[in-house]
Amino acid sequence: MNPNQKSKSESFDVCQIRADFPILRQKVHGKPLVYLDNAATAQKPSLVIDAITRYYAEENANIHRGVHWLSERATIAYEAAREKIRNFINATSVQEVIFTRGTTESINLVASSWGAKNLREGDEVLISAMEHHSNIVPWQMICQQTGARLAIIPINDRGEIQLDDYEQMLSPAVKLVSIVHISNALGTVNPVKQMTDLAHKHGALVLVDGAQSVPHIKVDVQWLDCDFFAFSGHKLFGPTGIGVLYGRKEILNGMAPYQGGGDMIRSVSFEKTLYNDLPYKFEAGTPHIAGGIGLGAAIDYLSAMDIKAAHLYEQDLLTYAIGSLKDIQGLTIVGDAADHAGAISFVLNGVHPHDIGTVLDQDGIAIRTGHHCCQPVMERFGISATARASLAFYNTREEINVLTAGIHNVMEIFS
Ligand code: ALA
Repeated sequence: MNPNQKSKSESFDVCQIRADFPILRQKVHGKPLVYLDNAATAQKPSLVIDAITRYYAEENANIHRGVHWLSERATIAYEAAREKIRNFINATSVQEVIFTRGTTESINLVASSWGAKNLREGDEVLISAMEHHSNIVPWQMICQQTGARLAIIPINDRGEIQLDDYEQMLSPAVKLVSIVHISNALGTVNPVKQMTDLAHKHGALVLVDGAQSVPHIKVDVQWLDCDFFAFSGHKLFGPTGIGVLYGRKEILNGMAPYQGGGDMIRSVSFEKTLYNDLPYKFEAGTPHIAGGIGLGAAIDYLSAMDIKAAHLYEQDLLTYAIGSLKDIQGLTIVGDAADHAGAISFVLNGVHPHDIGTVLDQDGIAIRTGHHCCQPVMERFGISATARASLAFYNTREEINVLTAGIHNVMEIFS
């Protein structure tokens, strides 16, 4: 950490940030809410809530279709959001920014549209052993349809990708590598830039599942050099039901549409349909207009803060949380990668994770328990579930102290 960065982190005012998130003022079971389930969904600042309300109160109209004033206004707001997203991930063009329902739909779009055209028997798709179900099942489905094979890059006991194994698995048969940037179940930050460079050397494309990375680290798709990048609005302090697929223009142009309908066409007759240009070719039907505008507002919010300082603050908080949890006897952290962000998974001797979650809830603490849509990861570690605390820049050390006290209480109850 260079001294400049340190002073920025010290200048981060978490109290001021918390005031922007009305939900954080709530009490749960008579206790102040301690929201540590940010990997499932992040809370929304007033700026986002107000933008959605304003859209419905003052701008609601369908987009790209009307010549009337409201429709034009809604279209401008929606397309302005696309430009904010382009800038946020540093895509070269808004044509490369496709609105979807979220990460899951973005991956399904690539699997079915790119996969159906480009995969055949003898081909391979590589994913890692730490993928979310949404980066496993779409590939299983398209592999079944095309005869391609799904191969799994192993991870070590710390929950890190085995890069040597990965490199050895890369062969001319591998057509695509689909890899999570930050694991929702383990908090591992994967070396996706390095993995992309290696994949490209072997002629494979790369999709990065960025659902957990966009809230925690700066993402630059040009620097990463990935071919596709998927993320969700609701984990980035925006609304649910909206997400993004970034794709390289030349690859998207070569893909068939994902769904047919209005807006994705240039002309339709019963004999022949001509498809629209990017990005509309992949956006059939009336989109989630309020969602797009809300996501644009979330990016406005992040752009107005010192995001580097926020990330440093959060990383410092994560180190504090890991240290505090490690001190608890009988607690084991699952996933101890050297490069770690966002989520901390843990198990307690003799206590089922669901019981941990239920007891902590009585103290107003929200964590997630279960397999986190990552059953193969659980199998890799020989467990069925974990308890998971996941952080955002509005969390505090006091909240981590409440969590550790809550866990001690759980242990007492079950001892
Ligand atoms: N994938 C989200 C999580 O990890 C829902 O909780």
